[in-house]
Order: sequence, then C-alpha cells, then structure tokens
Amino acid sequence: MADQLIIFDTTLRDGEQSPGASMTKDEKVRIARQLERLKVDVIEAGFAASSNGDFECVKAIAEVIKDSTICSLARANDRDISRAAEALKPANRGRLHLFLATSALHMEKKLRMSPDQVYEQARLSTRFARNLMDDIEFSPEDGYRSDPDFLCRVLETVIAEGATTINVPDTVGYAIPELYGNFIKTLRERIPNSDKAIWSVHCHNDLGMAVANSLAGVKIGGARQVECTINGLGERAGNCSLEEVVMAVKTRKDYFGLDMRIDTSHILAASRMVSQTTGFVVQPNKAVVGANAFAHASGIHQDGVLKARDTYEIMRAEDVGWTANKIVLGKLSGRNAFKQRLQELGVSLDSETEVNNAFSKFKELADRKSEIFDEDILALVNDEGISHENEQYGFVSLSQHSETGERPHASIVFTVEGNEVKGDSDGNGPVDASLKAIESHVKSGAEMVLYSVNAISGSTESQGEVTVRLQNSGRVVNGVGSDPDIVVASAKAYLSALNKLHSKADRVAAQG
Ligand code: KIV
Ligand code: ZN
Repeated sequence: MADQLIIFDTTLRDGEQSPGASMTKDEKVRIARQLERLKVDVIEAGFAASSNGDFECVKAIAEVIKDSTICSLARANDRDISRAAEALKPANRGRLHLFLATSALHMEKKLRMSPDQVYEQARLSTRFARNLMDDIEFSPEDGYRSDPDFLCRVLETVIAEGATTINVPDTVGYAIPELYGNFIKTLRERIPNSDKAIWSVHCHNDLGMAVANSLAGVKIGGARQVECTINGLGERAGNCSLEEVVMAVKTRKDYFGLDMRIDTSHILAASRMVSQTTGFVVQPNKAVVGANAFAHASGIHQDGVLKARDTYEIMRAEDVGWTANKIVLGKLSGRNAFKQRLQELGVSLDSETEVNNAFSKFKELADRKSEIFDEDILALVNDEGISHENEQYGFVSLSQHSETGERPHASIVFTVEGNEVKGDSDGNGPVDASLKAIESHVKSGAEMVLYSVNAISGSTESQGEVTVRLQNSGRVVNGVGSDPDIVVASAKAYLSALNKLHSKADRVAAQG
C-alpha cells in the first residue's frame, strides 16, 4: 500500500492573515464545511489566543466539523496553549500547533531571547501541551533559516516531550526546492528520534516556489504532511496552494507514490468560495482553478483534444469540479434541476431553507439574465448560511443617472441597524456617486485601497463581481458584492466592507 500524505489546510489561519482577507465566524464555518467535504485531514481553524473572535471561530468549527482534525495555532506559552485547548474541547479530534522562532535573527531581534532560553521554552511548552492533548504539532518558526545544529537540538527535545508532528516552516519564502528537500532529509537523518514524529512542510510563496518547495520536502525530505491554503491565500505572495500540490501528487502518482484522502471534485467549489468570501480574485491562468486552466484556445490544441483528450490534457476538468456542460439553467428551470446542479458543482447547502433561499435568488437572477452559468450559481449560493443579523448596513435599492457631458448622480437606500436611510451624491462616475452617497451618511473616514470588477461568466450579460478594499486605523478589510448591475454590485461590496470594518477584532498576528 502507498504511503499516506496528510493535507493540512491553513486557509482559515495563515490564509486569513493576508491583509483584507479577514472572515467572519459564519464565513469561516462555511469554508470549514467545504474543507470537510474536500476531506482535508487537518483544518487549522485559527489562533485561539489571538482574540476573542478567533477563539469563538475555533470553537464553532470544533463543534460542527467531525470528519477532519481541528487545529489551533498557539505561541509556545502556557496561556496561549490553555486557550487553544479550551477552544478545541468540542472537537472529535483536536490538535495543538505550537510555534516558536529558532533562527538567530528572530531569536535576537524579535524574541530577544538567547538560544538556551528558546530551547527551554520549546521543551517546557511542549510538555505542558502534551498534558492537555495527544496530538501536538511543533513549528520552529523561520526554521529553514535556522542553524541546523540548534534546530536538531530543539526538535529532538520536543519529540522526546511528545510532539507528534514536526513542521519545518520556510516562513519568509527563501527556500529553493532541492535545498529545502535536503534540509528536511538531513534533519530527519540527524535527529535520533525523528521516526517518532510525522514531518511536515510549510512554505511561503515569496519567490513563487511554495508548491515546488513543498513537493521537494515530500519527495527528497520524506515529509508526509503538507500545509497549504485554498488558492494559495496568505500574507505577501501567499502560501503553498492546496489545489496545485494535491493535483501534482495525484496526477504524478507514478513519481510520488502517495495516497491522499482528498475528494478532488470539491476543489473548484472551495476555490470559488474562498475567492468570493475574501475578495481575492483567482487569476484566469491559475493552475487547476483559473478560468482558463482547461480552456483550449488554439485550433491545434482543440483539434487534438477532440481526437484524443490526453494529447493536451494531463488532468480531467471534471476531477477538480469543472462540469463539462457549462451553459446550465434558465428561467424555466425548476427547483430540482437547480438542486441537482448544485450537487454537480459540489455545493451542499446545509438545510432546505438555504436551498429555498438560493432558489429564489436564482429565479430573480433568471428573470434578468437569459442563461445562468455555473459561476453565477456559485456566486449566488456564496452567501447562504451566512447570518446578516449583526450586520450594521444592508443594501435596499439604488438609482443613478449618467449622461455624456453631465455629472453622474446617485440615490441609494440602505439600512443602518435595520432603519432605512437615503443618501444622494454626485460623483466622477455612477460608481463613485453611489459610494459617495453611502459615505454622505456613514462618514467612515476609510480609505479605499482597491476597487476591482470581474465579469463572473465573461460576457457583458454576466454578473459583475466587485471587490472593495478599505483601510481605516490600520485595519484592512475586503468587501465583495455581485449583481448584473455593476453599480449595484459596487454598492453591495462597499456596504459589505463597511460591515467588516465595523465588526472590530483586535488580534495578535502570528508571524509568517
Ligand atoms: O510561516 C510560519 O512560520 C507560520 C508558523 C506560525 C507555522 O505560519
Ligand atoms: Zn506561515
């Protein structure tokens, strides 16, 4: 039997650390459910001690997810570890993930601790954690840039104290595949008790090599856990992308010889969900999940694929959730056809109420748009299961007027804590006028640092998906809105970003 490769997803922790990618509890639970469908082995649900909000998210995910191990990050100190263990109590299987920097640079400049102090803290915190839980992961932060002799000393000790997984982060994305693979191989060879732990890779993508480095860690280094995120979401250039690493190991099983539990047919739905929730758009030429990933534009390629698909295709689009039949439903389609399409797309709504809500949104959209594509369906179900109860602002209606030579004007009606208000403004264009009309009431003082529009299914008849990124007092949030009218989509995205700004969460960020 082939060895098993453990897939550890950290979209909800390391991915969320990306500025603007913060998610609400409902959004996180919804993504966690999708990760469970994907059969991810371990879901890192958050960093419980970083804020009360994060604690509640880890706890809520531990309560509902039963098929994947739920993990919380914790700094290597008793308070963080106890807090994480508390949040993980409801989990079927919980894991504590301790981290402590071991590179000379981080120890001296960030921690202001000597190597001996770091060694002692690693030892005692692992012992403390192991008394609370059996499944303990230890990460020497900036491990790849750490002195190998010191790292061997620390890792041998934490394994002796009961760490069951040793993760070697390339925190700053500095590694080169062959060197990183050999680094892990050397650690495993030099540490006498290395066989008592599972070795794991955690690579950042600053030089665009996170996936390559992770695969080298597996192939050369013998790691059997990969830490990754959906769409490669993460700080700076992001983390190792789950879909790429999983499809590489699956497609080249001849080379890696490894099995995984992952049900790849749920990959696309997970990618769409994360992109629509965070507003981080997937580039069209992104491997596996980009809109062009399986589109053969050149005549020679099309001809080849029609004659024999493996002339130019190394994976089947269906295997990652793309459906062969792309034009789907119209206004005459019934609830059953809609429900079946959701199933084919790998989307399972959790209750009949959610299906009914999604179906009535589908009907509304079908009245305005003759053909509904898979992308439209994925966009409109994205909001199901997300409670809007505690949201400060809600969209009601919008009218705007623009004409060549005249300054555009917009009037918007929206709710503030349930009460309708109306705002009016001129602007440089209809979008500008609409957002200024909102601001005439809200006066958030936020700075807009990004505005982008994406046609969900590629034509002018398509729904527009708008992302707005706002910054205020050092906080960065993304809001996303979709509608066939891009001015309305923009107003929805703006209100969604304001809602996120409004739900303040003070948190301690994990490094890396
Ligand atoms: O990149 C990193 O070092 C991390 C650790 C906290 C595991 O994310
Ligand atoms: Zn990281």
